Amino acid sequence: MTTSAAQDAVQDPDSPPPAPQEEDALLLERPLPPCCIVIFGATGDLTHRKLIPALFSIEAQGLLPEQLKIIGFARRDFSDQSFREELHSALQQFAGELWKEARDIWPKFARRIAFHRSNYDSADGYAQLKERLEGFDRTDGTGGNRLFYLATPPSTYSAVIEQLGRADLVRRDGEQKDGFTRIIVEKPFGSDLESARALNADLRNVFDEDQIYRIDHYLGKETVQNIFVFRFANALFEPLWNSRFIDNVQVTVAETVGVESRAGYFDVAGELRDMVQSHALQMLALVAMEPPNSLGANDLRDEKVKVLRAIKPIRPEDCPACAVRGQYGAGEINGRPVPGYRDEPNVPPGSVTDSYVALKLEIQNWRWAGVPFYVRAGKRMPQRVTEINIVFKDVPPILLNLMDGKDTGPNVITIRVQPNEGISLRLGAKPPGQRTRVKPVDMDFTYGVSFGQRIHDAYERLLMDALLGDAALFTRDDEVEAEWGLVTPILEGWKKTPPPANYPAGTWGPAEADQMAARDGHSWWLR
Ligand code: BG6
Repeated sequence: MTTSAAQDAVQDPDSPPPAPQEEDALLLERPLPPCCIVIFGATGDLTHRKLIPALFSIEAQGLLPEQLKIIGFARRDFSDQSFREELHSALQQFAGELWKEARDIWPKFARRIAFHRSNYDSADGYAQLKERLEGFDRTDGTGGNRLFYLATPPSTYSAVIEQLGRADLVRRDGEQKDGFTRIIVEKPFGSDLESARALNADLRNVFDEDQIYRIDHYLGKETVQNIFVFRFANALFEPLWNSRFIDNVQVTVAETVGVESRAGYFDVAGELRDMVQSHALQMLALVAMEPPNSLGANDLRDEKVKVLRAIKPIRPEDCPACAVRGQYGAGEINGRPVPGYRDEPNVPPGSVTDSYVALKLEIQNWRWAGVPFYVRAGKRMPQRVTEINIVFKDVPPILLNLMDGKDTGPNVITIRVQPNEGISLRLGAKPPGQRTRVKPVDMDFTYGVSFGQRIHDAYERLLMDALLGDAALFTRDDEVEAEWGLVTPILEGWKKTPPPANYPAGTWGPAEADQMAARDGHSWWLR
């Protein structure tokens, strides 16, 4: 798709014309290098829904170099040709507008694609893979560069990593004069602190930390990156960004989808592992961290780790007060009846898996002492919305506040991660008229109106960054371990507390979550 086509698609007719094309030159810092991208788990959902549409979109923007091959690795019996046909249907199904606009480039994209059939633990399969990749280096100029993508079920991760090492498919950074070998690891990265440490150890047996790209796709979202820019590119906010002025912070990740066809994974994982351990804690870290020394991956991650480590762990005995869990019952989403969690396909009838979580977290450092961070994530909520609300302390209850006996409400900065990506600021203003009154109004910035460009899918950005060797938007070993260090005691605590409270699908979760905030005199901003 050309960028101008994308702009046309989202341009608000009343907004100024889009910024000139010089914006486009900023999309990529340098050209993407030649490479063989090997996707393990190439016949799975993630490949179809996300990875191939993302690569196709990069192609459509003219950014994929000629010398780049995409090799699907899986157990199923495909030839190169039948695998291409499979991906062709996947693009039709999952690439929507992009496919309609850019289908003409399919033949070019298809030529890059190959399929390699093997079991994940078959030494022969990896030896043959090595030969094929070296063949592509000769015929297609892929330059010995390798980007492996682990999109298999996590139970196979260790086998794949070990076989890559044994087949001599990995050159450690220090051993490699030219070119690179990197691995992207999909979530879930472990299921608790111990398994995350074990996976880190498996990876370090074969790769250097600099070669490991642990994905959290929320970090690839434009608006999540904008948290950083908003905070550190504007002199206005940083002086107020602390416990003197901020009353509480709320992170909400609400989805309308239920467990869908993913009960096999989700019923074992639950919402705390699925959404909080990774996405919600990452957003919290970006909101709360200190300014890093540079934009480099390690400086940025050092600061995130510092703030994650400053969060006071919720001990098992603190769970009743600080860690609410819920499970949806039958209800309605957008006027449509939907079944309860336990009636979803493949969910065991007595399942106590959480589909909703609300936590109260405290960050024990000078900036944030005394400011509660409320984090909640849930499936089957009334809206799909991811939002961060920074709720400021109110003005004193004299003069204008409490007019007509009504609290006019605090200032709130809302970072809307999705949908309608943007930022708004809630202010009190005087409505026209002789009487002095205060009404809340919003100052709004939205991406669509200000930049007039399609927001690219997170996977596009992350794949490009991994090809370019920029790990800033990927998580480091100590960072995932810090996240699991917070989540694991809660999982322990929940083993000893009553099962999750029920909430009807299409509502904002169990009453216990409201009570948790109300005990501190707070309420959820979004409800
Ligand atoms: C994934 C979770 O990481 O993120 C899913 O496993 C969830 O359960 C998804 O639905 C949400 O991602 P997004 O980008 O649609 O908000």
